[in-house]
Amino acid sequence: HTMFAARRALSGAIQQRAFSASARDLSKVTVLGAAGGIGQPLSLLLKLNPRVTDLALYDIRLAPGVAADISHINTKSLVTGYEAGEKGLDAALQDAEIVLIPAGVPRKPGMTRDDLFNTNASIVRDLAKAAAKSAPNAKILVISNPVNSTVPIVAEIFKKAGVYNPKRLFGVTTLDVVRASRFVSEIKKTDPVDENIVVVGGHSGVTIVPLFSQSAHQDLVGEPALLKRVQFGGDEVVAAKDGAGSATLSMAMAGARFAESLLKAAQGEKGVIEPTFIDSPLYKDQGVDFFASKVELGPDGVAQIYDVGKIDAKEQELLDACLADLKKNIEKGVKFVAENP
Ligand code: NAI
Repeated sequence: HTMFAARRALSGAIQQRAFSASARDLSKVTVLGAAGGIGQPLSLLLKLNPRVTDLALYDIRLAPGVAADISHINTKSLVTGYEAGEKGLDAALQDAEIVLIPAGVPRKPGMTRDDLFNTNASIVRDLAKAAAKSAPNAKILVISNPVNSTVPIVAEIFKKAGVYNPKRLFGVTTLDVVRASRFVSEIKKTDPVDENIVVVGGHSGVTIVPLFSQSAHQDLVGEPALLKRVQFGGDEVVAAKDGAGSATLSMAMAGARFAESLLKAAQGEKGVIEPTFIDSPLYKDQGVDFFASKVELGPDGVAQIYDVGKIDAKEQELLDACLADLKKNIEKGVKFVAENP
């Protein structure tokens, strides 16, 4: 804590930050996996965000290098890169308000997100353990796939540590919303900023359920090519990159947007709504403990969870298929922690 305070004082002096800055204007954001394909552009976008005052970058490789590079950008925030290892990880997490986790391996052609489970489950588990210890009050934003399983893994680790607060754990599904909105605008020749397609469920294949019936484009409900693009848009990128990874740049934008929404809400803005994969009461009676739906964000994280609302019969079929898959994905994460604590 004292190191953080000292660093803060130093950066304040160097950068002549206004003395009137109130405590809640100080926002430390930590990226775990900061040197990766997502981590680097995500860190760059966070450096450009004036709401972020401290940017802490951690990876098992290269984080100090990425931090040195980004730290030359002439915005106010202080960027620190941490050496690999427990000490660096704990220091990166200390006092974080938001922790973004894009650490892990991405897909190669022919792989599903679930194929990443074996590698990424233990990475996320270990990072969650560190976060439970060093940043138990932070909002945790899980990007590492399979999100449907890695989010429950973080929840289980936080429960075991006695620090679980479902309001502060988020699976980042923003990219699905971004894609759906962009693809619709391409078909309808609209400005994508005016499209805000609600996407519910989870974050892989058939668990991704876009609700076009709730947009201005009823005619797109059940449009097979568009549905496939939204559900399997990630595969387009995996195929185009041909073995070199999955979506990184669009994902970085989506992750930065979600972090920005949380910061806005933390700083008192009302009506900030983003679909996100959270511990949700909506389908618990069907054994589905986590679900992505529209969520109003507030200072403490989740402020209000919206149900899916009125949907088309075709969308209901998609939702039923989604719930069956989601239940298995969630159970897989929970089981992993029980068997590999
Ligand atoms: P990448 O391989 O380029 O980067 C991953 C980074 O994580 C590497 O720099 C690696 O050193 C680091 N890392 C590995 N283990 C670590 C640990 N224990 N602690 C800290 N850092 C560690 O992969 P990329 O493309 O950045 O993807 C990362 C993850 O994000 C993948 O699991 C991918 O499937 C997922 N993803 C999620 C999306 C979403 O919509 N939620 C969209 C696209 C990708």
